[in-house]
Amino acid sequence: EEIEKGGYDHFMLKEIYEQPRAIQDTYRGRLLADQGLVRMAGIDNHLEKFTNADRIIIVACGTSWHAGLVAEYIFEDLARIPVEVEYASEFRYRNPVITPNDVVIAISQSGETADTLAAIKLAKEKGAFVFGVCNVVGSSIARETHAGAYTHAGPEIGVASTKAFTTQITVLTLIALKLAKEKGVFSESEFHEMLTQLEGVPAKVERALQSNDLIEAIAEVYKDSTNCLYLGRGYNFPVALEGALKLKEISYIHAEGYPAAEMKHGPIALIDEMMPVVVIATRKGHYEKVVSNIQEIKSRQGKIIAVVFEGDESVKELADHVVEVPATSEPLSPLVTTIPLQLLSYHIALMRGCNVDQPRNLAKSVTVE
Ligand code: G6P
Repeated sequence: EEIEKGGYDHFMLKEIYEQPRAIQDTYRGRLLADQGLVRMAGIDNHLEKFTNADRIIIVACGTSWHAGLVAEYIFEDLARIPVEVEYASEFRYRNPVITPNDVVIAISQSGETADTLAAIKLAKEKGAFVFGVCNVVGSSIARETHAGAYTHAGPEIGVASTKAFTTQITVLTLIALKLAKEKGVFSESEFHEMLTQLEGVPAKVERALQSNDLIEAIAEVYKDSTNCLYLGRGYNFPVALEGALKLKEISYIHAEGYPAAEMKHGPIALIDEMMPVVVIATRKGHYEKVVSNIQEIKSRQGKIIAVVFEGDESVKELADHVVEVPATSEPLSPLVTTIPLQLLSYHIALMRGCNVDQPRNLAKSVTVE
């Protein structure tokens, strides 16, 4: 096992650090920026299913569901295709409207999650085209779907999902870019620009990982918290949800993710000097509004840990702690902003003496409904 951990103390840490390479492995051979192409057999062979689809329905559980939420923003924003994101467990029990003109995308690291499998079976019965995004090759979901794309993240052992999340987002981004081009939503040059930017992401993730020591110091301050709030907007709202899930899963601290603007409809009542609030405040996603949310938290003595793009000045003045990550275009930002949140949950869990790789009551893949 020590050899498998490759010198890291835990699988989770190893997998967090593997992300620059894992993301690259995910688009290798698929993203051909010099030729201005995205080539993916699973999509190319069924292109019309996607370009003619009335809508895309995404089904998933846990962290994969969060990747689905990011994909909702990507598909609607870039490819202009309506998307619904469903918890697989809810989807199948509420008599959903599914037609043969729907494309269902099932996202699953393990490819074995029982609720997701059941949702796929239902979608197939209703005549939808079902596409899988899985990490484990030859898994049940990979076999049950009509077509699919693997994430190629390599084995993920830590129960808390990290590199599976960022590689799922990478695959879904590739698909959205391809569809944006096919549907004529993107010009040749816009498409090329996005491909080039995506190729730049691994280096940016690498830079984001360099904030590890800073994050460890922040973890030291908040390790005894009993609650934590995560806020983000737009593309970074699902990142807030995922950050909160990571903290809950491995440190057993109660954490909630919220769209920043919803704070005033509830969570603001909880804010006092005991409440750390992690705010993802990238420069584009409604930046001014998020800054005003930060001011509201400050005026109630809440503690602010802000994740910002490098060079940010406004948030720096207000926040108690600032973690800078390299700037990206907004659709690619979740791949980078999620990194400090993974590291924060890791360090807090470790300082609380928790079993980081195998948290209590959780399983890597849930094969019961
Ligand atoms: C479990 C795991 C999570 C995972 C979820 C969905 O709850 O602990 O890390 O996100 O299942 O798993 P899947 O394999 O379908 O992505």
